[in-house]
Amino acid sequence: MVYQKAIKEQWTPYLFFTVVVAALGGLLFGYHTAVISGALIFLVPVFHLNILDQGFVVSILLAGSLVGAFVAGNLTDRIGRKKTLVFASVLFILGALNLGFSHTYVLLIVGRLISGFAVGVVSLAAPLYIAEISPPRLRGTLVSIYQLAITLGILLSFFMDYLLSQSGNWRLMFILGAIPALVQLVGLFFLSETPPWLFKKGLETQAIALLQKLRRGRNWMNQIDVMKSVSSSHKLGTWKGLFAPKLRFVLLIGLFLSIFQQITGINTVIYYAPKVFEFAGFESASSAIAATLIVGVVNVLATLVSVWLLDRAGRRILLLIGVAGMTLSLLCLSGAFFLHPVWIDKISLISLMAYVAFFAIGLGPVTWVLLSEIYPLRIRSKAMTLAIFTNWGFNYLVSLTFLEFIQTLKPQGTFLLYAIISLISFWFILRFIPETRGKSLEEIESIILH
Ligand code: BGC
Repeated sequence: MVYQKAIKEQWTPYLFFTVVVAALGGLLFGYHTAVISGALIFLVPVFHLNILDQGFVVSILLAGSLVGAFVAGNLTDRIGRKKTLVFASVLFILGALNLGFSHTYVLLIVGRLISGFAVGVVSLAAPLYIAEISPPRLRGTLVSIYQLAITLGILLSFFMDYLLSQSGNWRLMFILGAIPALVQLVGLFFLSETPPWLFKKGLETQAIALLQKLRRGRNWMNQIDVMKSVSSSHKLGTWKGLFAPKLRFVLLIGLFLSIFQQITGINTVIYYAPKVFEFAGFESASSAIAATLIVGVVNVLATLVSVWLLDRAGRRILLLIGVAGMTLSLLCLSGAFFLHPVWIDKISLISLMAYVAFFAIGLGPVTWVLLSEIYPLRIRSKAMTLAIFTNWGFNYLVSLTFLEFIQTLKPQGTFLLYAIISLISFWFILRFIPETRGKSLEEIESIILH
């Protein structure tokens, strides 16, 4: 009821437009990270890539993202949240064109680095932007739209890879990634900086005018004073300040959540799905790619469920159900590889679909929502930098070690390992994650600091 009322009262066309433009950052994140899965096969003969070169082409993007996430915190504070997004869209366009037109291995690597850097920047700036323009009661829904966009981007890249693989046009696979960036760049001209950033820079009149445009009704009026006092009473926190006793705890919560989002293994599926299906006995490459497309669709659909539930049911319950489901699905997958029944292909497809679906209702969106809302304003961008940097670091580690694990522990041992880690993350969430549904960023801040 409260939620329905919030939608009626606070949902304005301008807010909708703003969220869509910022969420395009998620679509770019998804497309540019996943497009390589289909392009790689065509790059091998053109650039004479050995196994090592191939691994490098895939993982160098993640190295770029690590650096991008690191730089983004500072940028969003200095030049603003919106200008950082503008910077990222320009980089996405340059990266896509560079990749599409590269004629040497070095240019290919440079293109992947640029795209990776842009992905890193956007992975911090987009959820931060959305959280700061959202009315409290809609914040979960709106930030999770960013995750929905990531999953749509992944699906779009799987689909384009599939369509273009018939003609082998890998150049177009990359170049198409520039289109959403161009759309975002145009859209960003109509957006402003966020209210908390404007208040922090002393631009009060602009901040209030923007809130008026973003929010219908009068509810936001009583928030202005709180927002103003929170924004102006804090100087920008220092890096050292992050480790102050009261903040240390909340900093660690975000860091661990980021780590668990990655080490429970999601990107072994997103980046290597066709390979996993091959192990499970899918005979042809095209049936493995078709199964991968199904996984992409499940990812999008389950994220929709989460978008719908986040502000109704809350963050904790979705995380707990999600991680419990992931643990069971991974156990099933491990069991299937261990016992190797005749219908292993079907069991593995169903378990992987369930695993991705449970990730998509829990750890996928909720991680981004919580990272954008649990940190007090004065350290928000720095703490997010650290957490998102860690997220990319562990993503890199998991992607790099997965094939190695499959060789030494076999698929059954590898998925069992991820199941055990999922179980540990269940305990962590149960014990430490706070419920933030419906609270304003300023309320969350005062709860954390007092
Ligand atoms: C994660 C990515 C992952 C994607 C899958 C995101 O929340 O950060 O690493 O590839 O979800 O949908």
